[in-house]
Amino acid sequence: MARHLHTRPRTTENLVLRPLRRRDANSLEEAVQVSLADLQPWLPWAAEYDQHMATRFIRESLNAWTEGRAYDFSIRYPDRPERHLGNVSIWWVSKQNAVGEIGYWIRSDETRRGIATEATMRILQVGFEELAMHKIQLRIAVGNTGSERIAEKLGFVREGVLREEVKVGPRWLDHSSWSLLESEWRATLADRPAGRTPG
Ligand SMILES: CC(C)(COP(=O)(O)OP(=O)(O)OC[C@H]1O[C@@H](n2cnc3c(N)ncnc32)[C@H](O)[C@@H]1OP(=O)(O)O)[C@@H](O)C(=O)NCCC(=O)NCCS
Repeated sequence: MARHLHTRPRTTENLVLRPLRRRDANSLEEAVQVSLADLQPWLPWAAEYDQHMATRFIRESLNAWTEGRAYDFSIRYPDRPERHLGNVSIWWVSKQNAVGEIGYWIRSDETRRGIATEATMRILQVGFEELAMHKIQLRIAVGNTGSERIAEKLGFVREGVLREEVKVGPRWLDHSSWSLLESEWRATLADRPAGRTPG
């Protein structure tokens, strides 16, 4: 099992995924600010957001990466590297059982272009190949149809509902729990165009 995940960017056909940097605070905050209306219904941290929160998130993200707990990636276009498109993250739930979890969000003026699906597919590769995870889970608030569609497209299996799992503002939200096994991921890879291995 990999102890240290390297910090070099991972690429896809259209995207670059790289660790956050301290100087990303402005672009991160800007992306969150233009997306608040779409983030707030589902994500508790988006209730209020400012530069201080962006700076703190990046600091914690760098610590988590160094300590091997969690890996947050900033999603960017290769030809517009200054623009923060969103985050995709993977973290350990149980190292003993090789179980991880992923999460993502995409800025509102870039949704419906396949970014979340493409970025998450790449991070699944990081989880299964670089971190040697056996199972990756994904929790989605009930009613978040966009995120459910991504889970389906990536081959996740819906396991059940976690009742009142997360409090967002005054509301407790049920979450559906989804998972993908390494064997299932390898089977879906075999169906994709001839073994393309992104960087
Ligand atoms: C949900 C979210 C991640 C989707 O990102 P995205 O980059 O637009 O997703 P994609 O373009 O890869 O779309 C994947 C599929 O979902 C569908 N989809 C995306 N947003 C949708 C929405 N709001 N309602 C219904 N379907 C949606 C797309 O049409 C596509 O399906 P298709 O290929 O069958 O047409 C983004 O809207 C977001 O960040 N929302 C707020 C935060 C959030 O919900 N994060 C996830 C928490 S689990």
